[in-house]
Amino acid sequence: MSTVKKTNVKRVTTHTLQEMKNRGEKISMLTAYDFSLATIVDVAGIDVILVGDSASNVMAGHETTLPITLDQMIYHASSVVRGASRSLVIVDMPFGAYQGNSKEALTSAIRIMKESGGHAVKMEGGTEVVESIKRILSAGIPVMGHLGLTPQSIYKFGTYVVRAKEEEEAQRLIEDAKALEEAGCFSIVLEKIPAKLAKKVAETVSIPIIGIGAGNGVDGQVLVLHDMLGINKEFSPRFLRRYNNLFTSIKNSVESYINDVKSQDFPNEKEQY
Ligand code: KIV
Repeated sequence: MSTVKKTNVKRVTTHTLQEMKNRGEKISMLTAYDFSLATIVDVAGIDVILVGDSASNVMAGHETTLPITLDQMIYHASSVVRGASRSLVIVDMPFGAYQGNSKEALTSAIRIMKESGGHAVKMEGGTEVVESIKRILSAGIPVMGHLGLTPQSIYKFGTYVVRAKEEEEAQRLIEDAKALEEAGCFSIVLEKIPAKLAKKVAETVSIPIIGIGAGNGVDGQVLVLHDMLGINKEFSPRFLRRYNNLFTSIKNSVESYINDVKSQDFPNEKEQY
């Protein structure tokens, strides 16, 4: 298989994202977990690629994001980095790699940066992770926050329903967003919260707010690549827009290949030496 080499492209940086928010230009972000799809997403012109711990679901078939390890995240991230010439590549800190204490968080973040070549890390949580964020930032590593539905805490929440619908939780989320901005996060993901609240957060803090299931009053959008391409058939939340039906398309191609092999139509004379 050949690989696509790209040169002389101006890289999107955390500063680019801030400038985009300042001038009201929306930020596009998608996940990717491997070289080939990262290359396509990058060439298409996406601003940010997130190597999400959703790899645990869509790449490894786990029910939650909890099982994926730091080594596995680094493997995915290093593959994505090799495919991305223009996009900013952000890597999720997996469950168990930062919750212990700020020293552990820094060690994990340094491993991600050194071994994958990613450009920033993302962590779930509010005030409880501020100390770790500050320590990671002190090493020169940019940090993106993640509030609202935080899948690494699924067993605390119990369900994947919309978060912060009640006033008390909404207020706490706003305070958490302010704390993340003050700690030095360059951006925050807001997942599955009411659109009105997400808009308020985007207006309250000056850093870019990227939404997933958080309406269009924020500074950018992120989706899981496999969901928006229709590779997954089962996952169908209201916020998901499907841009393709690759499950069916790939299945049809594989079925045609099987038929061609069985009927000895493949390979033909031109396809052999
Ligand atoms: O892991 C992931 O894909 C994410 C997005 C849903 C934001 O965190």
